[in-house]
Amino acid sequence: MKLTRIFLWTLATVGSMLLAGELQAARLSVLSPAANSYVEAGRVNLVLAFPDNDVSSVQAVVGRQRYAVQVRQADSSGQACLALQLQNGLNRIEIRAVDRQGAVTIQTLSVYRRSRLSKQHQEPPAGYQRFYFHLPANEAVCASCHRMEAQLTDLQPARPEASPCYVCHKQVGQALYRHKPVANGACFSCHEVVQGRRKYLVRQPVQQTCFVCHNVQARQWNGMKVHHGPTAVGNCTICHDPHGSDWPSFVAMHPTDLCLNCHQDKQSGTHVIAGFFAKGHPVRAATNPLRQSRPFSCAGCHNPHAGDSQSLLNRDRSSFSVYCQSCHKL
Ligand code: HEC
Ligand code: HEC
Ligand code: HEC
Ligand code: HEC
Ligand code: HEC
Ligand code: HEC
Ligand code: HEC
Ligand code: HEC
Repeated sequence: MKLTRIFLWTLATVGSMLLAGELQAARLSVLSPAANSYVEAGRVNLVLAFPDNDVSSVQAVVGRQRYAVQVRQADSSGQACLALQLQNGLNRIEIRAVDRQGAVTIQTLSVYRRSRLSKQHQEPPAGYQRFYFHLPANEAVCASCHRMEAQLTDLQPARPEASPCYVCHKQVGQALYRHKPVANGACFSCHEVVQGRRKYLVRQPVQQTCFVCHNVQARQWNGMKVHHGPTAVGNCTICHDPHGSDWPSFVAMHPTDLCLNCHQDKQSGTHVIAGFFAKGHPVRAATNPLRQSRPFSCAGCHNPHAGDSQSLLNRDRSSFSVYCQSCHKL
């Protein structure tokens, strides 16, 4: 080849490579979560597949949160995974995949986070389906690298990391207060592995699962005269995160805020001492005099589960002064 021809050939090849790079940006499909689906958890695994295994980095933007991951071709085989945080309501997820030539592919999808505690976010938009990942077709894509079937030893793994769930669900229960069975990796104490039904179901209402271990509370609460609305329907997870949270007893938020979702009118605390003081009784303080390790909240005076009085008070109120003195030295 003459030098000029080599030069022209190189120019043409590089040119077509650049052109190809621009025209055929990476092919990208989203394995999780499905577009226009809804979930209830505050986190979700974003799982992407690149059939040509040509992507070198991925960014995802959800609201003000940004996520990024480098993809190593050698061990990814064209997959990338990012754990995303979701806000209540509609979340628009923007994905930017950059391939080895620097070409960018952008894809967006919307996922709705439903919340039973927030009046505005009870119902997903029309047409949104509940998202389930653990279906045979999805799992088949992962099975070449991840163990997707449970073994008997997974019931009580030696270490939490030994659980087959850990690699993909490390974030579950990573909170200040962790539920014992979750911290131990004993995911199957609540998630069933029954064949023939959808995988990892938790029996509903969820109290059936909780009361297997919390039988002391079950007996105590069942023995009381009045049962609190949301507890009586058995959906403990309206208030508790079953894995863990940054509040004692794994409640979803400060217990006072939790109650105010459904009882806004009690915010002022005037109902406690109405007629005696112009100002209402505080409904928050750093410590609960009856339970020093916890913040004082509505739950300092009310049992959120059940009680022997209509108002579910956890102290006898037949004598006003004795009642107040259970916390105040007068
Ligand atoms: C070609 C092999 C391969 C395939 C196929 C694969 N993965 Fe992975 N995956 C890996 C490796 C390697 C890791 C990193 C393991 C580690 O951190 O110990 C990983 C990690 C993950 C993580 C954790 C990411 C993180 O940042 O914590 C998730 C979630 C995940 N994979 C989901 C999936 C899903 C879902 C599928 C199927 C749709 C899948 N993977 C298919 C190899 C694969
Ligand atoms: C290869 C990765 C991977 C492994 C291993 C894995 N999961 Fe998942 N799981 C996912 C992805 C992806 C989702 C969907 C997105 C999300 O909720 O984070 C999911 C969702 C779930 C859900 C919500 C319901 C559903 O089907 O979407 C439950 C419950 C669950 N996983 C339990 C488990 C348990 C228990 C184990 C261990 C026996 C396990 N997972 C192992 C990737 C994995
Ligand atoms: C104390 C019972 C309990 C234990 C133990 C438990 N879970 Fe869950 N988990 C639940 C309940 C209840 C739900 C909500 C299910 C529903 O609404 O259908 C849930 C939901 C999930 C989901 C979907 C939503 C989310 O929060 O991301 C994943 C993923 C999950 N669990 C993974 C795990 C893994 C992994 C482990 C073990 C480390 C584990 N769980 C241990 C009770 C439990
Ligand atoms: C496999 C047994 C098991 C199951 C099932 C289980 N728990 Fe627990 N739970 C425990 C253990 C063990 C502790 C730690 C008890 C302790 O430290 O005194 C605990 C502690 C708790 C605490 C904190 C108690 C405190 O004093 O602050 C709450 C709240 C709780 N569980 C709620 C639930 C809910 C809600 C469910 C059902 C979704 C559930 N648990 C299912 C075993 C279980
Ligand atoms: C209306 C919200 C709500 C519901 C529903 C609810 N809890 Fe609780 N639960 C709380 C709050 C708030 C606390 C913490 C009380 C405190 O700080 O003193 C708590 C505490 C607990 C504790 C710790 C022990 C104790 O007596 O303080 C356990 C165990 C528990 N809940 C289990 C359950 C189970 C099981 C269910 C379902 C049958 C359930 N909860 C339903 C709000 C709720
Ligand atoms: C998911 C909604 C919801 C949450 C969260 C909730 N409640 Fe309730 N509460 C109800 C419902 C429903 C009733 C029964 C209907 C009624 O009487 O208003 C009720 C009844 C009560 C009653 C009895 C009222 C009466 O006169 O019969 C008290 C006291 C109470 N709740 C306190 C609390 C406290 C304290 C919290 C927080 C730990 C809380 N609630 C959280 C829904 C909720
Ligand atoms: C210092 C103790 C105390 C605190 C804190 C407290 N309450 Fe009460 N609450 C009471 C007493 C006492 C009554 C009974 C009033 C009556 O029967 O006249 C009551 C009654 C109620 C009732 C039922 C009667 C009615 O008026 O509807 C509800 C619901 C209630 N409280 C919710 C809450 C909520 C929600 C909070 C937190 C924002 C809270 N309370 C904080 C002591 C308290
Ligand atoms: C379950 C415990 C508990 C009970 C019962 C209780 N209180 Fe309190 N009270 C508190 C806490 C906690 C504070 C806040 C203390 C602080 O901020 O240091 C408080 C504060 C107060 C204050 C000060 C308000 C302010 O703005 O400084 C008054 C007044 C008061 N309570 C009156 C009463 C009366 C009257 C009763 C009986 C109807 C009563 N309390 C029952 C726990 C309780």
